[in-house]
Amino acid sequence: MISIAVLGHGVVGSGVVEILRNNAAHITHKAGRPIEVKRILDLREFPELPYADRFTKNFDDILADEDIRIVVEAMGGLHPAYDFVKACLLADKSVVTSNKELVAAKGDELLAIAKERNLNFLFEASVGGGIPILRPLDQCLAANNINEIAGILNGTTNFMLTKMFEQGMGFDEALALAQQLGYAERDPSADVEGKDACRKTCILASLAYGKHVSPDEVYTEGITAITKEDVQYAEAMGGVIKLIGRVVHTEGDRLYCMVSPMILSTDNLLAQVKDVFNAVMVRGDSVGDVVFVGRGAGKLPTASAVVADVIDEVKHITARKYLFWESGEPGRVLDHAQASAAKLVRLTAEDTAAAKAQIATAFGDVTYVTVPNAPTNELAFITPTMTEGAIDAALAAFDGVSGVKALRIYIG
Ligand code: HSE
Repeated sequence: MISIAVLGHGVVGSGVVEILRNNAAHITHKAGRPIEVKRILDLREFPELPYADRFTKNFDDILADEDIRIVVEAMGGLHPAYDFVKACLLADKSVVTSNKELVAAKGDELLAIAKERNLNFLFEASVGGGIPILRPLDQCLAANNINEIAGILNGTTNFMLTKMFEQGMGFDEALALAQQLGYAERDPSADVEGKDACRKTCILASLAYGKHVSPDEVYTEGITAITKEDVQYAEAMGGVIKLIGRVVHTEGDRLYCMVSPMILSTDNLLAQVKDVFNAVMVRGDSVGDVVFVGRGAGKLPTASAVVADVIDEVKHITARKYLFWESGEPGRVLDHAQASAAKLVRLTAEDTAAAKAQIATAFGDVTYVTVPNAPTNELAFITPTMTEGAIDAALAAFDGVSGVKALRIYIG
């Protein structure tokens, strides 16, 4: 028997307890011994639950209990999660977390403490919910130089974009439904502004390339500005809009990292990933493209990955899993203005012939995109592939135009 504790009995924490109870026989077999949830930390009370006697409001009950060898952190947020996780590691308890904010902000420090003390700090559920992605990236694809990682890393926004494309739903209606289904963060601005996808992009970049990448180094745009007109134009191009987290490895071991809505051609595998599903494409130099798809949010899918980490820690209670990265390095993540891009640009022209002349001068012979019922003075065109900085500078110099809006196009 091994005793564990769970910090937080919200969506993920309650799912962890539920899976450990419902699948106890199978999990005991996998782990080699029974796993007992000895303590659950939560400020609320749950008298109706059959395990109501396990709850405590006092973290010290867990910290001081030497029987508890593994702690699951499912509280979310940076504080007090960071303080509790650090204290657990310093008290020689291995930790499993689903908390992407914590791992993206403090992963290097917590991994270093775990390494120093011969413990494990595992966080498979922090990226892609139930999708196995971190272990495969770290272990199964270890032989490869990873050239690129691109993923749909937020279930809420993928669900919303799917509803906006397929059912013509408005932004607010789609968000309310995602919240009702338990996909969204407590503060859904983290979803719709791209911060959640940014944290997951940082974790993938840190693990794949061995040094910590912080959220503040990653250019991040969410989906709050995506309109029905954008949806129409993407469809007219034969594409869909997805919120993509992308890391491209470039010369000198530098990285381009970005989170942004992008237009993807419908034949791209990521374009076919709908609803709350997440997907991560990893491009290795030997293996080629590998795509991982599954449920990226929700109680049991996320808890499934957490419990798998718990089982792994039980099996390796006296041995370390070598999931690790070092501290970050200033300048390693390049300015996105230097990255190559093509964009769908939409603008309103005072004089369309004059605007077309400026477009030809700046971008050459471009492809125009039209949609039914667009205003007659609206122009939409696809830029050639150039640096982002060059595209933005050319657009900023245009005369006699307004409402300039540019959407990135994913070029693999
Ligand atoms: N709010 C997150 C999402 C939960 O929608 O993907 C899983 O990280």
